[in-house]
Amino acid sequence: MSVKHHLLLSTALLMTTLTYAGPRAALAADAPAAPVTGTWQDAAQSPDARTSALLKVMTREEKLQLVFGYFSTDFKPKAYTRIEGGMADSAGYVPGIARLGIPAQSQTDAGVGVATQASPTPRLRTALPSGLATAATWNPEMAFAGGAMIGDEARRSGFNVQLAGGVNLTREPRNGRNFEYGGEDPLLAGTIVGQAIKGIQSNNIISTLKHYAFNDQETSRNFIDVKVDEAEGRQSDLLAFEIALETGNPGSVMCSYNRVNGAYACENDWLLNQVLKKDWGFKGFVMSDWGATHSTAPAANAGLDQQSGYPFDKSPYFKDALDEAVNNGHVSAARLDDMAARILRAMFANGLFEHPLNGDQAATIDYVAHAKVTQADAEEAIVLLKNQGDVLPLAKTVKTIAIIGGHADVGVLSGGGSAQVYPYGAPANGLIIPNEGPAFFPGPMVYDPSSPLKALQGLTQAKITYIDGKDAKAAAKLAAGSDVAIVFATQWTGEGQDAIDLNLPNDQDALIKAVAGANKKTVVVLENGGPVVMPWLDKVAAVVDAWYPGTSGGEAIARVLAGEVNPSGHLPVSFPASVDQLPRKVVDGDRKDKAEHPHVDYTLEGAAVGYKWYEKKGLKPLFPFGHGLSYTTFAASDLAAAALDGKGVKVSLTLRNTGARDGKAVAQVYVTPAAGGWEAPKRLGAFRKVALKAGESQSVSLTVDPRLLATYDTAAHAWKIKGGDYTVMTGTSYQDITAKVTVHLPDATLPVGAP
Ligand code: BGC
Repeated sequence: MSVKHHLLLSTALLMTTLTYAGPRAALAADAPAAPVTGTWQDAAQSPDARTSALLKVMTREEKLQLVFGYFSTDFKPKAYTRIEGGMADSAGYVPGIARLGIPAQSQTDAGVGVATQASPTPRLRTALPSGLATAATWNPEMAFAGGAMIGDEARRSGFNVQLAGGVNLTREPRNGRNFEYGGEDPLLAGTIVGQAIKGIQSNNIISTLKHYAFNDQETSRNFIDVKVDEAEGRQSDLLAFEIALETGNPGSVMCSYNRVNGAYACENDWLLNQVLKKDWGFKGFVMSDWGATHSTAPAANAGLDQQSGYPFDKSPYFKDALDEAVNNGHVSAARLDDMAARILRAMFANGLFEHPLNGDQAATIDYVAHAKVTQADAEEAIVLLKNQGDVLPLAKTVKTIAIIGGHADVGVLSGGGSAQVYPYGAPANGLIIPNEGPAFFPGPMVYDPSSPLKALQGLTQAKITYIDGKDAKAAAKLAAGSDVAIVFATQWTGEGQDAIDLNLPNDQDALIKAVAGANKKTVVVLENGGPVVMPWLDKVAAVVDAWYPGTSGGEAIARVLAGEVNPSGHLPVSFPASVDQLPRKVVDGDRKDKAEHPHVDYTLEGAAVGYKWYEKKGLKPLFPFGHGLSYTTFAASDLAAAALDGKGVKVSLTLRNTGARDGKAVAQVYVTPAAGGWEAPKRLGAFRKVALKAGESQSVSLTVDPRLLATYDTAAHAWKIKGGDYTVMTGTSYQDITAKVTVHLPDATLPVGAP
């Protein structure tokens, strides 16, 4: 079992040994003992009114108590014992204030379900497919349903704050945490992650939006300095956050570890005060990532509202030191009020006062219903990348199937790190396969107990034989004697480390080549954290991308292979042909470069993230953003576009299922100014997933957000649409455009916030 992941924090931090018994005992004693009641208890009043009423009766100590969070797991390197009151082996806890009826904040990771920090007996819960997988559904309703489900499990597990909502763009395909996020496009990622947040918060709990911002790689994440141009940042990473914020209205935003243009993200006035709170009007609170607070007055004045996860920071900056800073005027009393008010407001707005925590009620979780939610998500997330000769779905004539590798006989892979959900259905230690992957964080490698093999066996009469794939020759021999060979290829990624390259690890490329050499009907099923290269692509018949498909992922994969489910996932991220196509051949900021302040320069690609970069550079990726095949065929027609009086563009088109099977199509709308001048040749402007029965057609109407037709003008502090002709396109990926129309837009200036 792993030790705590934060061992990965700086070595300096590890050297310090503290004994810290928990929250200052004096806090409780300072506060008047008698319970106080007041109008803040009236749920009919607005969150703002309740907050200001409550703030008036709070002591300084009580306000300070709200802005300081503790880790809720024993942490040996710092001789730290879990804070009393917090749920076992969980991410964090902020004690409540009984006399005022202020509930504790009980925090759990993360975006695919209720996670457990290092523990020999983790809580076992339903896991959704990875965040990237949910983005591959291109289905906001699916994202909402998944969020609602994991939020329910969080609440029943004793939590009212879920550290979910990761929306960092896939700027670096090797980023070890891409699986937690929503891909490379700000509109798709922001919409999907925003809906997941909304779903989580429908359970009267707070979700975060994280990691704000530009935390797009794990290498040197605790101190790397990201250089970014303001306008380019607003048109890329920040736009993803902005859309997620508007869509999901999270109670909290978690600032990230890295620096941005010199200042740590958690003491970055531009990011926190200017962009997030002023321009976007964020009314909730900013919490720091675990170990991302570096100061008292600079952080508080730059907009950090709550220090999290003590003792991961070097000091309890937001405890006595903050008290002192207020006393001596380095932080104003009004600012401390604002910090406390933002936390309280988020708690009121999300029903935390009206829905008290009640310890661990996990016995009441409806795992059967939740398995259906995660399975539906996985089924829509699976992307059929290649299907030569319609080898899939598996024909009735297939009598023998070789299943090779990936532990497909017992389960499916998940991603590692603080977001790790130990799966419901596993043995008490959470591991159906012991001793896989690193022993320590972000390990171990956790497999969800959902066997693709067993599920497929239930759907076919064919004889299935499994071999683990460690011996490529033996695998090839089995494949040669089978009608179809299915290789389950895995790419395990995790927090705190980036992939060294985009190749499948452990000689799996060679395994696939050997199998494909022995059987032309070779199907590769990928279980991956993010993009991988496929040096064997032209040798295999089919490729199915299942991502990390969650606790019912095996069933989902089997149903797609057998044709019970018609695949409808589309890539939320392009797969480059090789690392040579990336803006950076190697991940920047490796500590080995001995630079005192490792940095990464995002002005290199600017806002041209992912497909925008490839297209701008004339590079052809292996698979483009938006790509995804189906067992049926679709056609788009009647594309039309009309300007919406400064409010974007209205687009309509008709989608038709031209094949013989029911299926789901995604209307993808791309936009570009005819005169050029953007960061890239085109942007995704709008999308919609539509279910169509065989032969059915449906007209779809979509709106392109005006920000996606504009560029950000830093000097004017506004978005500007340049008057002229714009091309509106639809297609089956950003590369495969099937129809275009032109719309004329007048010059327009849009305010910096939501349209
Ligand atoms: C991660 C966060 C997580 C926190 C609490 C950090 O290391 O970056 O995503 O929420 O730990 O576990």
